[in-house]
Parts: sequence; C-alpha cells; structure tokens
Amino acid sequence: MTKTRLPVGQFVARDGIIDLGWGHPDPDLLPVDGIRRASARALDRYGPDALNYGYPAGPGPLIAWLCDRLGEVDARPPTPDGVVVTAGNSQGLDQVATLLTAPGEVVLVESPTYYLALRIFRDHPVELTPVAADHHGLRVDVLADTLSRLRRRGRRVSLLYTVPTFNNPMGVSLGAERRQRLVDLAAEEQITIVEDDVYRELSYDGRAPASLWSLAPPGVVVRLGSFAKSLAPGLRTGYITSDPATTTRIRDSGLLDSGGGISHFAALVVAEFAASGDYARNVERLRAAYRARRDALISALSDRLEGRAHWLPPAGGYFVWLTLPLGQDAAALLPLAESEGTSYVPGANFYTRPSDGHRSLRLAFSRYPEETLTEAVRRLAVAVGGVSD
Ligand SMILES: Cc1ncc(COP(=O)(O)O)c(C=O)c1O
Repeated sequence: MTKTRLPVGQFVARDGIIDLGWGHPDPDLLPVDGIRRASARALDRYGPDALNYGYPAGPGPLIAWLCDRLGEVDARPPTPDGVVVTAGNSQGLDQVATLLTAPGEVVLVESPTYYLALRIFRDHPVELTPVAADHHGLRVDVLADTLSRLRRRGRRVSLLYTVPTFNNPMGVSLGAERRQRLVDLAAEEQITIVEDDVYRELSYDGRAPASLWSLAPPGVVVRLGSFAKSLAPGLRTGYITSDPATTTRIRDSGLLDSGGGISHFAALVVAEFAASGDYARNVERLRAAYRARRDALISALSDRLEGRAHWLPPAGGYFVWLTLPLGQDAAALLPLAESEGTSYVPGANFYTRPSDGHRSLRLAFSRYPEETLTEAVRRLAVAVGGVSD
C-alpha cells in the first residue's frame, strides 16, 4: 500500500487567507443528505440499469424533467430530441469544440470571459479572437465589425463563445435588445453561438433573462447548462440544448457511442433529486444564501472602497468585478492582498491578450458566509491602501 496521500478535492485552502479567487460553492451548501437519499432511490428504482451503460443522449427521466424545468426558468422549453446530457459545461464545451470546429478556424470569445473556457479552447487547434464586452455584456457592434474584418481576410469563423447571463467574470447580463441583435446577426452570418448558461438558476432579483437559445431560430445557438452551480459540481452532470440535428451529432459521437450516456448514474441521481421536489427547494435555498452574500460583499465594498474602486452589483451568479483606482495593477497588488489575508483572480486572466484588464479583479462571494466576506473586503481595502483600518 502506498503511503502517499492523494487529494480528494480541487480546492486548496491556504492558512490565513480568505480566498475569493475560487468560483466554488460553500461546502456547507452542498446537499449531502438529499443526494444520499436520491442515490438510494435511483438504485431502488432502476437496479442494475442504474449501473449499466446508459442511453447516449442521457437517461429519459432526467431529460423529461429538464424540459419542464427549462419551461419554468427560461422563455421556452426544449423538446426531448433537442437535449443531450453532459458531464457539466466544461465537458460540454470541450465536446462542442471537438465536433463543431475544424483546425485553423477562428473561435470568437467574449472579452473578458471565463478564463478556463479559454484553456479548453486552447486544447483545440483553433485561433481565439476576442470580442469586447462592456457593462451591458457583449458588444454586438464590435462583433459585426470583427466578423467583416475576418471575412475580408478570408477567415472562417466557427463559433462565438459567450456567457450572457450573470456572466463570469463581470457578473453582468446581456441586455434584451442586444440579445435579439446578437442572435439575428449570428443567424445572418451563419455562425454558431455557444451560450454558457451555467448561472441561470442563481438569479437574486427576479427571473433570469430569456436565453439566447430561446430567442434564436433553430440551429443558431448551442446552450450549455450545468448542475454544478445549482446542485453540486462533483456530480459532473449538465446538459446541452440545441436543434435536434446538433444533439443527434453529439449523441452519435464516438465518445457517447463508446461510453454510453455520460455521467449515467449521476444523471439518474439528479433525476430522482429533482422528481422529489428537492431540486427546486435547493435552488431556493441557494438563491437566499447567495443573495445575502452578494449583498454583504457589496455593502462591505461600499463601506471600504466607495469613491476609489468601482464595481457593479450582479443580479445573479457568483462574482463581482472590481476596478481598482487609477494607476493600480491587480496582479501587482495580489501579493500584498495575500499578505493581508485575502485573495482574488487578477483581471488579465480573463482576456486573450494579457495586456488587457490589469486594473480589474474578480471576487467570488459563493464560498464564504457574510461575515467572512466582510472581513475579506476589510483586508482587500488595506492592500488597496488609503483607508484607515
Ligand atoms: C462560465 C462558466 N462555465 C463553466 C463552468 C464550469 O462548469 P462545470 O462545472 O459544469 O464544468 C464555470 C465554473 O466556474 C463557469 O463559471
């Protein structure tokens, strides 16, 4: 027996540091007992079928429930033939990049964007081109200019990756008018939008906006949804909604043909958890907890950094994007912040060009309770300087 102790989880705690860099849930908010009961029910109901290879598109009970749920939390429901179960948005994105891009093609990415999506695309032989976003989301005018510039240079654009709802890293959502212009432009230019919709369920001030997928004609948007934020990331379960031709292509991929439905047992556990009403209750509980955390973080920022840094309160998701006083650099400030006992992700990480975003940083309010967030902001403000403690 080896004596080496290998880690179980991804999070690395650092002594004395309240780390707002990780976009992870608070372990205390993960429904261990509910998942234990749902796992037992899945085994009781399906027996060996729960442990065998699953149907490639994902188990029917989860897909049927998802169609109903998306009818409640989005502007329209998908049909069962337009859904494929994934192992979460990271895997879904990787598979979309595998199936819907060819070597040398251009993939457009909203800028700033979820930095690990950049890493996933960089595992594929495509070229990443940024499209600017502002505090109202992706700049559709900049997208139109970028597309015509690329067309003049004879480049083929396969995908546009965007997080239009409770965005990571900025926390903002794309406005309704821009949503419509974006899907119209994508339809006209025949590019596929990959809509990362991972935060849809975590809305704190009313309903989440209608997804791009729900607004677009069939075939324009592939939407990636996940249970990582609304339930538990360790279940590695999510879904894609798209037109049936695209879901068929995914379902018939070598990956699913060989392995059967991805995360099959976990998907049945999610289906049981959902059917019992636990999922809806869990989402309500998360909304209340994260809303209070968002409010605590924003109020601490107002107390400590008003007039020097600026930020926008997010209406959902996990993150606040903070812009430092003129002349400060978030990467340069990080060691000082850590020596004061807090941490964050510097803004440059969210851009394809590292020269961008140096005055900004991302704070995640998901992992810690209110009083710890307040203390983290006190420490950050000391690092930023100019405040008495
Ligand atoms: C925008 C975005 N997409 C995808 C992911 C990862 O999703 P999953 O855990 O479903 O792979 C995250 C997690 O932080 C995210 O913020």
